[in-house]
Amino acid sequence: MSQSTSRPLKLEGKVAIVTGGASGIGESTVRLFADNGVKVVVIADIQDDRGRQVAESIGSQRCSYIRCDVTDENQVQSMVESTVKKYGKLDVMFSNAGVLSSQDQTILDLDLSASDKLFEVNVKGMAACVKHAARAMVEGGVRGSIVCTGSVAAANGSRRRTDYCMSKHAVLGLVRSASVQLGGKGIRVNCVSPSGVATAATCRSLGMGMEDVEKAYRGMSRLEGVALKASHVADAVLFLASDDSAFVTGHDLVVDGSFVPVL
Ligand SMILES: NC(=O)c1ccc[n+]([C@@H]2O[C@H](COP(=O)([O-])OP(=O)(O)OC[C@H]3O[C@@H](n4cnc5c(N)ncnc54)[C@H](O)[C@@H]3O)[C@@H](O)[C@H]2O)c1
Repeated sequence: MSQSTSRPLKLEGKVAIVTGGASGIGESTVRLFADNGVKVVVIADIQDDRGRQVAESIGSQRCSYIRCDVTDENQVQSMVESTVKKYGKLDVMFSNAGVLSSQDQTILDLDLSASDKLFEVNVKGMAACVKHAARAMVEGGVRGSIVCTGSVAAANGSRRRTDYCMSKHAVLGLVRSASVQLGGKGIRVNCVSPSGVATAATCRSLGMGMEDVEKAYRGMSRLEGVALKASHVADAVLFLASDDSAFVTGHDLVVDGSFVPVL
């Protein structure tokens, strides 16, 4: 008996926003969404050149770029509103924009002004994106999916990145609360939590190239023979964004090959 080998497109007809979509995990997810039949995926980022390049490489029918600094709630609101106005609705928000600690700090030398800046992006920005995406979904009667990028740092203490670790714990609180509050509207809210992935952010932070960062992170997993790539995280986001996870909400999906804290 012959069987069709074509896989159904998981996001057919959906309108999605990816914050931090110009680079790293966000960029990989934008590309995977586009390959999975999304009607349009909007990249919201502050790296204009990179964001536009990614959108152009996918094609203007399927992908567009909007400059949006997630630390400014007005920008987040108008980015979500303009998406709904232009494309009719919002089905998926991948709230992913985030930054790493500007320097190592233990609690003994915690720099609270540097922590404030990190919290502006990782906590306040994340909350603004969830808030305005949820409002658009409620107003539009859309049973949407919101996915936030957490981290294995949300399930462990950190030896040297106290503010980052605190901010990712906050993301979990946001996801869990929003999932409880939005379940009655059929809106799902989940978290994807990677361990170390070589991206622009981690290369900058460790002062190394992609291959060396991958090597440095190798000991973080018990899974032999595979290094965590942004595309692995994107696969998990696609699962949470699509109807494949129709009964999953308030969940923290770790993508860590069984994490061993080494750094
Ligand atoms: N790479 C890892 O090892 C790792 C592990 C766990 C979690 N994460 C999380 O994954 C997410 C993506 O990080 P990445 O590693 O892909 O880094 P990345 O630097 O490649 O991508 C982050 C993107 O976010 C954008 N961004 C930063 N501040 C912004 C702002 N204020 N407004 C809008 N966009 C902004 C950047 O311009 C960039 O395009 C972050 O939330 C990060 O904390 C990364």
